[in-house]
Amino acid sequence: MTGFALRNARLVLGDRVVQGSLALGDGMIRSIDAGPSHAGEDMEGDFLIPGLIELHTDHLENHYRPRPGVFWDPMAALHAHDVQVAGSGITTVFDSVRVGSDTDMPEMGSHVAKLTSAIARAGEEGWLRAEHLVHLRCELPSHDVIEQFEAHASHKQTRLASMMDHTPGQRQFRTLEAYKRFYSIGRTPEELDSYIADRLADHARYSAPHRAHIVQRASELGLALASHDDATLAHAEEAIADGVAISEFPTTLEAAAAAHDGGLSILMGAPNVVRGRSHSGNIAATDLVRAGLLDILSSDYVPFALLQAAFVLPQQVEGLSLPEAIAKVTLNPARAAGLGDRGEISVGKRADLVQVRLVGDLPVVRSVWRQGKRVS
Ligand SMILES: [Fe+2]
Repeated sequence: MTGFALRNARLVLGDRVVQGSLALGDGMIRSIDAGPSHAGEDMEGDFLIPGLIELHTDHLENHYRPRPGVFWDPMAALHAHDVQVAGSGITTVFDSVRVGSDTDMPEMGSHVAKLTSAIARAGEEGWLRAEHLVHLRCELPSHDVIEQFEAHASHKQTRLASMMDHTPGQRQFRTLEAYKRFYSIGRTPEELDSYIADRLADHARYSAPHRAHIVQRASELGLALASHDDATLAHAEEAIADGVAISEFPTTLEAAAAAHDGGLSILMGAPNVVRGRSHSGNIAATDLVRAGLLDILSSDYVPFALLQAAFVLPQQVEGLSLPEAIAKVTLNPARAAGLGDRGEISVGKRADLVQVRLVGDLPVVRSVWRQGKRVS
């Protein structure tokens, strides 16, 4: 057995923070010891928290397509993305890959294939810092979403699928006005109207049968399912009936409360916490935390926001402890995604750990270990 120890740390356990040390061996946490210890690497009084678990980030796609029409080498994009997520304290990342072609991306299938093969190949080659899994983000009204879902749903790294529907006038953009504000760039009013008419027709034709197909296949394949942008009681009820585990980015308190009561984990964006509001004008994540309805944070479009939000939350929400905030980026996402071997500092769990020092209000990442190996 190969082992070592980390001493003089503030250990963020599930229900308290204790000064002490950790013994690690064979990639796992072997013992937790409170009080002074003379052996091991000195953490200099910094926090040690479990490695962060990220369920929904489009950061890989942004590295692969850094500008409209520019496609980067997928392995190079994955490498750059991996360095940033690991450096932000994320040791398990579900790379979200948009599935289903649209007018902006008519050949989505070939892009999905390049990204998922890069993740599989790099995983086999063993050089990734974080563990990368795949989250298929399925756009239900897209004509070829099922074909692309089926091409990747049974890969061993695919563990999560979400069902999205960005049809104008519902969910994320509950009014046509809100939709037009977001999508009007580069289109004349006439072009925008005809684009919206096409989207409504696709929704009527495809959304319901595609949803039914994905629900059925996810259950056969053992994939965790997420609903996306739930806005109404009916959306929450549909998600509960479909056996969905996670409600991503609910847009109203009503939908979040109903989904939470129905046993779903509620996920919101960490940038929403850091900024204090949603980028598309929907509910603020901190309001959901105050209502006791927020289970999981996701870095969404800014990887470092995950750690930052976990340390900001106890300052913003009276009565919320640091261990409770940290659970929203570690244990809760692990449980919701069916990863029972990680997400907490506990004997027998993976030695996925982050050494964090607070500099003013900023949590600075000083070291990261995945399965006991230093990765950042
Ligand atoms: Fe959305």
